[in-house]
Amino acid sequence: ASSRKRSLDPPDLPPPKNPHVASLRTHPSVYQGSFPFYRLPSELGSFSLDEKRCYHGDARRLRFLSPPAGMESGAASPGWDVMEGFEDRYVRRDEDQKEGLLHILTWVTENRALLRGNGNPEGKRPVDRDFVTWRGHLTKILCSPYESQEGWILAVTLFKGTLYISERETAAAYRKRKEQTREQEKLRYSGYKFESYMCADSPDGAPCPTEVVNTNEGFCSVLLGRLASHSFLVSGEVDCKDPSSTNPSPPSCYVELKTSAEMRSPHQERSFHRYKLLKWWCQSFLLGIPLIIAGFRNPQGRIVSLEKFRTSEISRLVRGDRQSWDPAVCMNFCNAFLGYIKKVVTTDDHRVVFVFSWEPGEDVTFTIEADSDQLVVPDWYVEAISQ
Ligand code: A3P
Ligand code: MG
Ligand code: MG
Repeated sequence: ASSRKRSLDPPDLPPPKNPHVASLRTHPSVYQGSFPFYRLPSELGSFSLDEKRCYHGDARRLRFLSPPAGMESGAASPGWDVMEGFEDRYVRRDEDQKEGLLHILTWVTENRALLRGNGNPEGKRPVDRDFVTWRGHLTKILCSPYESQEGWILAVTLFKGTLYISERETAAAYRKRKEQTREQEKLRYSGYKFESYMCADSPDGAPCPTEVVNTNEGFCSVLLGRLASHSFLVSGEVDCKDPSSTNPSPPSCYVELKTSAEMRSPHQERSFHRYKLLKWWCQSFLLGIPLIIAGFRNPQGRIVSLEKFRTSEISRLVRGDRQSWDPAVCMNFCNAFLGYIKKVVTTDDHRVVFVFSWEPGEDVTFTIEADSDQLVVPDWYVEAISQ
């Protein structure tokens, strides 16, 4: 705790007056109903992070899908070893370095002209969106009604009319990360290694499976989207572009790559539908990525089959299962949560952070840091955007 943190006495900020604003329920039964309006996000720009995690305002780290022959017919059984290189060709991003919204905010400051509001009586918003956040944060929100293991903490600041949402690592997530076993670490590596087998550096290039897997690197798309009355700017990491896509404009030409354990029983298949497909759908649907290519690995760590999942068809795959999930519940909850944030966070000040937290089985609640030492909107950004 910091000595700069002040308590919230009335002269600073009044406590929320409306008791209905105090907490938000997450149980799926509350959010059943029709699917809310969701506009297919449109790409406004992109950026890349290099092997040293340095930002570049271009697409230099975008990769291109280069699947093996036979994938279309479902005949491909590539046999790739996705554990290979773990010992000597793996550079891991330092996850103790918390970047927050850094790269998105960098992109925003470099592309301010694209985001300025069209003058309204109260003055323009420099970023004419209700929310700015990472796709990964929205994925967590979407999955909450069905999540029974991991809670989250989302820090929110209202600055010049826009709400910025950034994640804080929970104590449980920190412990889990620090106590990761070698086997878990290898599994994590294998997801990235799969990308090395499937992607090339140029549209007509070939994959280079002997390359170093460096998880500092990435390509991120920046998109504008809308969910019901909430407009947002969202950025998310994109695995690759399909050069042969029938619709060459982003995000329709993007492809998400995934790995999963080969399924050998109806029980494993059910659990794949209930848990994995939920997360896969949320992640890809949010950015409008239409296609997911999954590599299934056997216990020896080899990819034994490849399967395509159309994002738009995933909900049909899980619909028959009574204990399954409903995409409308995910989106209705997200809509409600964003509305809840708008009701709660009304102090427009970059030093004030509203910390929303949630644990499975509980409601979403919040606390306020009136002079936070963990800012969502850093001083450098305030200065840059005010110029
Ligand atoms: P898989 O997706 O094949 O599991 P993404 O799929 O989102 O593009 O992420 C690429 C890879 O990063 C994942 O591959 C996985 O290996 C690793 N990864 C991402 N998020 C993770 C998490 N929360 N826990 C463990 N591994 C993760
Ligand atoms: Mg990825
Ligand atoms: Mg992926």
